[in-house]
Amino acid sequence: EKGTYSHFMLKEIDEQPFVIRNIIQKYQDKDGDIKLDQDIRAALNDADRLYVIAAGTSYHAGLAGKELMEKVAEKPTEVHIASEFLYNEPLLSENPLFIFISQSGETADCRGVLVNVKEKGCRSLTITNVPGSTLTRESDFTLHTYAGPEIAVASTKAYTAQMAVFSILAMDGARAQGINSDFNAISELGLIANAMETLCDQKDRMEQVARDYMSGTRNCFFIGRAMDYHVVQEGALKLKEISYIQAEGFAGGELKHGTIALIEDGTPVVGVTTQQHVNANIRGNIQEVIARGANACIISTEATKEEGDTIVLPNINELLSPLVSVVPLQLISYYAALHRGCDVDKPRNLAKSVTVE
Ligand code: M6R
Repeated sequence: EKGTYSHFMLKEIDEQPFVIRNIIQKYQDKDGDIKLDQDIRAALNDADRLYVIAAGTSYHAGLAGKELMEKVAEKPTEVHIASEFLYNEPLLSENPLFIFISQSGETADCRGVLVNVKEKGCRSLTITNVPGSTLTRESDFTLHTYAGPEIAVASTKAYTAQMAVFSILAMDGARAQGINSDFNAISELGLIANAMETLCDQKDRMEQVARDYMSGTRNCFFIGRAMDYHVVQEGALKLKEISYIQAEGFAGGELKHGTIALIEDGTPVVGVTTQQHVNANIRGNIQEVIARGANACIISTEATKEEGDTIVLPNINELLSPLVSVVPLQLISYYAALHRGCDVDKPRNLAKSVTVE
């Protein structure tokens, strides 16, 4: 039920801090350590390469998940769009582990891949919000995202929950291999839940940002680098699917290779900068679009901020920044769609779960 909320999407955005805290609880033992199925730990340990398979928003969570698996657990990881993998399979490693990410656990493109790789004898793990769904029944292992039912077609809390579960998997993978890492998913996720709450409390501000940057526009670009490149792809998907504004997320460095030709007077460009090592680079890109007339909305953190930034996020672990930086992107999309009178929870032409190829 929506309760006092006008839309499920807004309710589900607001639920994110609780979901993250719920995940911490579910994956923590009484000593505060990570509690993960021994068989999953062994499968991850044995694998020489991870293949993450997903669609849409779940694919975007996979992009962030890859960074966690490589940087924390030192596991080589590839992320593939399920429908592409299905008909254009890459060369597989000797001992792959397939990780399917799916809110619904019913996405047909993912299932197609699962059927094929099972035939080859590959092992599989599904990260899903729906235990008992087709993908969990057919794969070897399941990790539950514990986000509660997601009703709005536009995925919000499932995305952050998927990345949170990845952070736990990555930390566990690091421990299992004896990697000396100071990454503590449990404590980082606690901080993230607090940061999410701070942002969810700023709805009036987010609504104003949607008015200032999205009113009457036909298109909108999102740019970022490193983890911010992953989150801007999700920001663009959110905006396009519910507001019908044509939106694309780009790597900041790619602008000059083509996209900058599209910038006109007043074109909104949302620049996300949470990564200190590329802060100067993305700010350079933002200056380039401003010089061509762009209306630049800059989202930074306490650590990367400069005077005049539009939204400043609390400081967060840079590897987990999408969990927090996506919140303003979700809210801005929500208000942009609302201002246009769009059916926020049930956008045209879309279904909540895509069970046909
Ligand atoms: O249930 P799944 O996570 O497998 O769904 C994948 C996509 O269909 C889904 O994320 C879709 O892109 C959403 N509408 C995005 O908000």
